[in-house]
Amino acid sequence: MRTKICVPIMGRDSNEIIKQAEQVLEKKPDMVELRADGFDEISPDMVVEITKKVKEVLGKIELIFTLRTKREGGECEINESQYKEICVSAASVCHYVDVEIIGHLEIAEKIVSEIHNQGAKVIGSSHYFDHTPDNEKIIEIMKKMEGAGADICKIAVMPQDKEDVERLIQVSAWLKNIISTPIITMSMGELGSVTRVCTAQTGSCVTFAVGVHASAPGQIDVGMARKLLKVNQGCGLKGNIILIGFMGTGKTTVSKALSRITGFKEIDVDAYIVEKQGRSISEIFESKGEEYFRKLETNALKEVSEKSGQIISCGGGAVLKDENVDILKKRGVIVLLTATPETIFDRVKDHTHRPILNRDMSLKHVRQLMAEREPRYKEVADVKISVDANDRILTCYNILTVLEEMGYVHVN
Ligand code: S3P
Repeated sequence: MRTKICVPIMGRDSNEIIKQAEQVLEKKPDMVELRADGFDEISPDMVVEITKKVKEVLGKIELIFTLRTKREGGECEINESQYKEICVSAASVCHYVDVEIIGHLEIAEKIVSEIHNQGAKVIGSSHYFDHTPDNEKIIEIMKKMEGAGADICKIAVMPQDKEDVERLIQVSAWLKNIISTPIITMSMGELGSVTRVCTAQTGSCVTFAVGVHASAPGQIDVGMARKLLKVNQGCGLKGNIILIGFMGTGKTTVSKALSRITGFKEIDVDAYIVEKQGRSISEIFESKGEEYFRKLETNALKEVSEKSGQIISCGGGAVLKDENVDILKKRGVIVLLTATPETIFDRVKDHTHRPILNRDMSLKHVRQLMAEREPRYKEVADVKISVDANDRILTCYNILTVLEEMGYVHVN
């Protein structure tokens, strides 16, 4: 299954909407979502008129009409009968109408069948902007949408932590065996952004990407989405991708996202050591000292780099030793993540698990340590990528683009 890319457009009036429709045309999306809740005024007649004009501009591109109510995170305050009237009017013109499936099933069924009678399909939708409901609830909501007759069932949730993102991916995959209707799922915000491109795992049939403006938090650029979706469909790796960089550059976070997108196995060297030793890095430093930890680190690097096709994320001190660099260079391409001391300090200041920083958690100390280490990092790196934008998907995109150019990654 190929995931379609849908680009939302949103404006106050016909002029703004048409201008945006023309702009997004250049981005060649598979679908466009006309978000009507930003209109200054709204009536069934004007909705039909604007939708017709947009359709003319878009030609063969499929058009979704959406009136997102305040209750579901949009801008429109409207009563149920007006909502229904507008959705049904739009259905006579567009390919899909987004219907918020809330409240009584009979009401939802009625609006869905009226839209079907007008010749459009229905995307049932549901939104959670402050949390990720538990799995049973997500399944229940999607079943309800299918029960109401939706042709596609969509749920957008907000993660509180990375476990919520993993859970959304997992429950999305299960849904294939629970309902027979195609699904769209996404975990919103920067934290959940990987779910917009790991559709081979989620089974999501559409991803919403930014053409002109984002319409929800965490949407990524359409060009980036296209490329990463392709990678997600199938790619290969020569050797290993080895992530290095100062503490707090996000090596672990980036390697997890990269792993989700590429399917390459991800290995965190610190986590590997902790697992083998049965104690935390801080405990190892405290009881046996740094030198002992460095020996464990070298052994771990030897062991993990025996295999290929993996993303290996190294502790910040791993490449300070020549021996370690020799081990790694033979087995893969070294990618350095760089950030300013300010970015780093902001990320690590509340952490307590790094013995090297615990002694003196200050911007000055971070600056000083970075000044000592950066020349070494730069000398051993094959590729350097800045992470100052704090955007894991952008970082993954930049890494994959360079590694593809260098011949390490190939996209099927
Ligand atoms: C270290 C960085 C840590 C960990 C250990 C030593 C360092 O890894 O290996 O505390 O010397 O920079 P992260 O860079 O993943 O925090």
